[in-house]
Amino acid sequence: MEYLKFGVLVWFSCAQFISNAHSADSSQQPFPTEKLLVLTVATQETDGYLRFMHSADYFNYTVKVLGMGEEWRGGDVGRSIGGGQKVRLLKEAMEGLSDQEDLVVLSVDSYDLIFAGGPEEILRKFQEANHKVLFAAEGLIWPDKRLQDKYPSVRSGKRFLNSGGIIGYAPYVNKIVEQWNLHENDDDQLFYTKIYLDPQQRESLNMSLDHKSQIFQNLNGAIDEVHLKFGTERVRVRNTVYDTLPVVVHGNANTKMYLNYLGNYIPNSWNYERGCGVCDHNMVDLSQLKEYPTVMVGVFIEQPTPFLSQFFQRLVTLDYPKHKLNVFVHNNEVYHERHIQKFWEENKDVFKSFKVVGPEENLSQGEARNMGMGLCRKDPGCDYYLSMDADVMLTNRQTLKILIEQNRKIIGPLVTRHGKLWSNFWGALSLDGYYARSEDYIDIVQSKRTGVWNIPYMAHIYLIKGEVLRNELKERKHFVLEKLDPDMALCKHARELTNHREKDSPNPETFHMLRVPKGMFMYITNRHDFGRLISTANFNTSHYNSDLWQIFENPMDWKEKYIHPNYTRIFTENYLEEPCPDVFWFPVFTERACDELVEEMEHYGTWSGGNHEDKRITGGYETVPTDDIHMKQIGYDKEWLHFIREFISPVTLKVFSGYYTKGYAVMNFVVKYTPGRQAYLRPHHDSSTFTINVALNSKGTDFQGGGCRFHRYNCSLDSPRKGWSFMHPGRLTHLHEGLPTTNGTRYIAVSFIDP
Ligand SMILES: *[C@@H]1O[C@H](CO)[C@@H](O)[C@H](O)[C@H]1NC(C)=O
Ligand SMILES: *[C@@H]1O[C@H](CO)[C@@H](O)[C@H](O)[C@H]1NC(C)=O
Ligand SMILES: *[C@@H]1O[C@H](CO)[C@@H](O)[C@H](O)[C@H]1NC(C)=O
Ligand SMILES: *[C@@H]1O[C@H](CO)[C@@H](O)[C@H](O)[C@H]1NC(C)=O
Ligand SMILES: *[C@@H]1O[C@H](CO)[C@@H](O)[C@H](O)[C@H]1NC(C)=O
Ligand SMILES: *[C@@H]1O[C@H](CO)[C@@H](O)[C@H](O)[C@H]1NC(C)=O
Ligand SMILES: *[C@@H]1O[C@H](CO)[C@@H](O)[C@H](O)[C@H]1NC(C)=O
Repeated sequence: MEYLKFGVLVWFSCAQFISNAHSADSSQQPFPTEKLLVLTVATQETDGYLRFMHSADYFNYTVKVLGMGEEWRGGDVGRSIGGGQKVRLLKEAMEGLSDQEDLVVLSVDSYDLIFAGGPEEILRKFQEANHKVLFAAEGLIWPDKRLQDKYPSVRSGKRFLNSGGIIGYAPYVNKIVEQWNLHENDDDQLFYTKIYLDPQQRESLNMSLDHKSQIFQNLNGAIDEVHLKFGTERVRVRNTVYDTLPVVVHGNANTKMYLNYLGNYIPNSWNYERGCGVCDHNMVDLSQLKEYPTVMVGVFIEQPTPFLSQFFQRLVTLDYPKHKLNVFVHNNEVYHERHIQKFWEENKDVFKSFKVVGPEENLSQGEARNMGMGLCRKDPGCDYYLSMDADVMLTNRQTLKILIEQNRKIIGPLVTRHGKLWSNFWGALSLDGYYARSEDYIDIVQSKRTGVWNIPYMAHIYLIKGEVLRNELKERKHFVLEKLDPDMALCKHARELTNHREKDSPNPETFHMLRVPKGMFMYITNRHDFGRLISTANFNTSHYNSDLWQIFENPMDWKEKYIHPNYTRIFTENYLEEPCPDVFWFPVFTERACDELVEEMEHYGTWSGGNHEDKRITGGYETVPTDDIHMKQIGYDKEWLHFIREFISPVTLKVFSGYYTKGYAVMNFVVKYTPGRQAYLRPHHDSSTFTINVALNSKGTDFQGGGCRFHRYNCSLDSPRKGWSFMHPGRLTHLHEGLPTTNGTRYIAVSFIDP
């Protein structure tokens, strides 16, 4: 019970509470809610204002907004003193209400405030407090510390007045505000404080403070006191020190971010039973629009990034009319110029426009980001700006549509590093502006809670409305953090992130996050799966096809690029063949994998020549030599063995059940058969327990002839399929020969496994 500490009052309030509960359906309202009027000051419809109004509407409060459209002259409240304009507006409003004796007026801020309960509750609590006027209370004195001794002492509860919340009978509130004769930028809190601290007025106007947050919860200095309290209908906050459920939650001073976090739940934004309660509000239905909005897509390649061609492929296959997309690419890497060139040649006319700023421009990352954003800002026809870093793999083709339909000023899709807690947003900020992990961060990253979340920082990918760039964000310096922004010391954050969370987090030097002006909301959605963030760490670009080496760093993307799409069907549908006894045949590589491996070998170029003398092997003599290059020679042995363990071992276990391979092999190589050099291989046994043999190109198009013959079974395989592998026992039963390649060049990749 929340009133236990009220001593004698407890019986009254419990009784009251119970009778309320019992009379709920008999329409016997002890305090008619139409007798409560909420007055709030807002000069603009900020995101915070809209959130406030949403919570007020949800509880059916009657709200009168004062000052809308007026220029704000009340100073920068929160940082310095100010807010006199609020009192003046309230004074004007109260003049017409002063004779309504039974009207209860609730005067609150709006931008940084949320209702967690309804009018009945507030009226009941006000009645129980038994005063004519109640002010919100807080533990910190502001703005004049010297007034401390004048405050009545309290045994428990917050001692000092906060003017963000006032509730009182209209004539009494009027008697307070009619005393106002100061300037618009004079301090409202000081004004109320002086009246309250005058003992005579305190008595005659019957004023008190809401010491224990029965009604008003100020978060400043009290973040540790509050917790979310989840209910089946709605969510509130509980003050755990006073065991109360405050009705009005106020993110005063620098607790705005924390209020944003609470606002992701209270009153009906999200709960366990229903999930997101506000996600479908104000959606845009793209199918109802005559024309799709025009989007400027800014692509940022700020460091060598694996799988860049996949990134671009996903951009082209986004489900969105391409003639509505303008593409701006900032490429900071010479290494990637040939990839972009290739993409551009193949997709020249796909987009409405395609502009590349290359490494020769020597733009800093901040400059490049400002440039991309500026292109949308200055073009009135640009409806949205989508900023994407090249390490974002959007696997969801609907992403752009979904983001637009969600209809927020700034929204990003959640993307995470596969299997890690690393993502593209921060859930919280400590009071001094450093990274902090919000209580819900892990649940959001793992999509245990799905919704649209108001968050303090994000990076890598986000969509901004063009009109927002032309209004709230028209000053570009507000927007992107420069590399070494002294204000936020962002790199320091990134490094801290690195130490605390992930060893492999992004390079701090190139880590940029989006920051928006105070009071603007920024969202991340995890209502759908959108894709993932790839790792750009440990990307060695000194190979010809460097992505091949990414099997450890980015296993998901490696698999998608290089493993045959039908590979998994081996296990689900027995998708494999047995063309000769104990010779199994199955898909393993994509065409791309085959091509890149061959290219890599030809790029290396030093084929062995098929001699018996071979310095690469122990003993230096090969009885059945092939014209080949070993994986080790191109520095690919570790990666190849990993491939065998990840993708070949499971097949072995399936076809040779009971045999558990060690997945170990010394001889891993690519063989080249061509009539001019070596065209065939004479019958032999392999020095392996079993052997794999992957065809790397196509019979008919790349070569004629070829194939493999197993003598014991008088069985030949003469039409190998590119990307498919044979697997057969090595040293005992399967004497075999390589059939002559009669024309062109044939490549195969071979491993002698478990020698
Ligand atoms: C607000 O009023 C509507 C319509 O009368 C009602 O359906 C709804 O339950 C009310 N909301 C609350 C929180 O009482
Ligand atoms: C304040 O007013 C209430 C009635 O509304 C009265 O019971 C109480 O005694 C008054 N308190 C003071 C300090 O005057
Ligand atoms: C590129 O810019 C940096 C920093 O502005 C400067 O130090 C460097 O000399 C420039 N390099 C070239 C090639 O212009
Ligand atoms: C990158 O690969 C090259 C060629 O295999 C190798 O010589 C070099 O040591 C590698 N660099 C790193 C940092 O691993
Ligand atoms: C995968 O199998 C299906 C059905 O057998 C086939 O149509 C498709 O072409 C295969 N995919 C590839 C890449 O070979
Ligand atoms: C091997 O098979 C071929 C037909 O595929 C047949 O003509 C030949 O006689 C067979 N050889 C032996 C030794 O069985
Ligand atoms: C050999 O290959 C070349 C090019 O691949 C082709 O032009 C030629 O017709 C082929 N010759 C035979 C005999 O198939």
